[in-house]
Amino acid sequence: MEKQLTGTLALAVFTAALGSLQMGYSLGVINAPQKVIERHYARSLGVYNEDLARSEGGNGTEHEKPTDPSVVMYWSLSVAIFSVGGMLSSFLVSFVGDFRGRIKGMLAINVLAITAGLLMGLAKMGTPHLMVIAGRAIMGLYCGLSSGLVPLYIGEISPVKYRGAMGALHQLAIVIGILISQVIGLDFLLGNDYMWHILLGLSGAPAILQSLLLLVCPESPRYLYIKQGKVEDACKSLKRLKGDYDTSKDIAEMKAEKEEAMKEAKMSILRLLRSSVYRQQLFVALMMHFSQQFSGINAIFYYSTSIFQTAGVGQPVYATIGVGVVNIIFTLVSVLMVDRAGRRTLTLVGLGGMCCCAVAMTVGLAFQGAYSWMSYVSMVAIFMFVSFFEIGPGPIPWFIVAEIFSQGPRPAAIALAGFCNWTCNFIVGMVFPYLVSLCGSYVFIVFAVLLFGFTLFIYFRVPETKGKTFEEIAAVFHRKHGGVPPSKPQEEAEMVQLKGSSEA
Ligand code: GLC
Repeated sequence: MEKQLTGTLALAVFTAALGSLQMGYSLGVINAPQKVIERHYARSLGVYNEDLARSEGGNGTEHEKPTDPSVVMYWSLSVAIFSVGGMLSSFLVSFVGDFRGRIKGMLAINVLAITAGLLMGLAKMGTPHLMVIAGRAIMGLYCGLSSGLVPLYIGEISPVKYRGAMGALHQLAIVIGILISQVIGLDFLLGNDYMWHILLGLSGAPAILQSLLLLVCPESPRYLYIKQGKVEDACKSLKRLKGDYDTSKDIAEMKAEKEEAMKEAKMSILRLLRSSVYRQQLFVALMMHFSQQFSGINAIFYYSTSIFQTAGVGQPVYATIGVGVVNIIFTLVSVLMVDRAGRRTLTLVGLGGMCCCAVAMTVGLAFQGAYSWMSYVSMVAIFMFVSFFEIGPGPIPWFIVAEIFSQGPRPAAIALAGFCNWTCNFIVGMVFPYLVSLCGSYVFIVFAVLLFGFTLFIYFRVPETKGKTFEEIAAVFHRKHGGVPPSKPQEEAEMVQLKGSSEA
């Protein structure tokens, strides 16, 4: 009898999710200690003005303003280079995941995380701005890879019944990472003049633990069977993950998927882009990530403190931590609900709810001058905006890509979706401050309009994938969009054409 949930499965998912924790930590860590780090940049650039700092009440306090444009430039670069790293490396997910397997892939990329952690941790001993920028860039490279490999591995080892919940654990670990970094980044803990480098350096710490634990985690049975043709190893891995049971049903399912994959030839990113057979799936996958980022969630995460300030909140840093807590609670709700309520429903409710909250936030911000209680409206709206994000649009895009693609194109699709996510993340981070100066308190109307469009898109174009095998999902997809299933002649003809063009 198949146990489904075993200690080894829990350990494997926990170990993989340490990569996501690291990503969340790196996403959140850069906010709180901004002023402290800028001061160190200014000193090492030789533009720190002690007199000015003192006259502004600055001996390490947040009133101090960086005056030199070079400090501002290096700071912005330290923030943005992280997403650039993610954008670039997400293209390598399929190569790293397929080269020696998911486990060795995750193990290998930890070299990046540890190097990045060391560079930032030792930043005080060298030239801080250069070391932090190098560290953030390398950490970005690590996160681009791990945000693809973790959902890929978790999606492949999870039993169908719990695949949604386990997939959502990637996001849960991200939000836990964000909260940890926000809390230990408070100035009386590590976010101060003496400890900021430790705060940044710690972003590499989970990689050490993960490297040790990966040594005892089973390789993905799908990788072993489908990519490597190792039936016995795949059975062993299945038994380690699900308990001592009859593996023939799972093997038969993988066999069917392998047969499809054999017909598919090896799907590179370019081939996937050119293939008309997977166009619908790819469109949906990219739109899910596009809507996740253009929902405006990171506008809240990157700029929440100043948004709370605008909304008249007395202790904005603590309100930001409050957002982190709410974030975790609602991701947990999603973990518990996603396999029952379904991906489509939760994404729809999430995006629709966020749209209403964006409108409420705008009303609150626009009228707070006239009615003081309006600041509560904006505050509640921010909290609800984040809650709606976490029940669907946050976690689901990360794992749905692994669900809607079969083994052949899966790694390439994950790579493309990751690239889309990191690029949109970068764009929102860069453009939001300009949008604010352009639209003022009406800035969230832009996101409200986008969110409305995304809700309609999900309603009309995204099928439900809950409880279905990878094969069933592919079939639903093709039926839903009136396309031909992948085994039909059109695909074979396309593959012959692709093989021909690559051999030529
Ligand atoms: C998702 C997004 C990420 C965001 C986070 C917030 O993981 O991909 O950009 O910061 O959610 O919870």
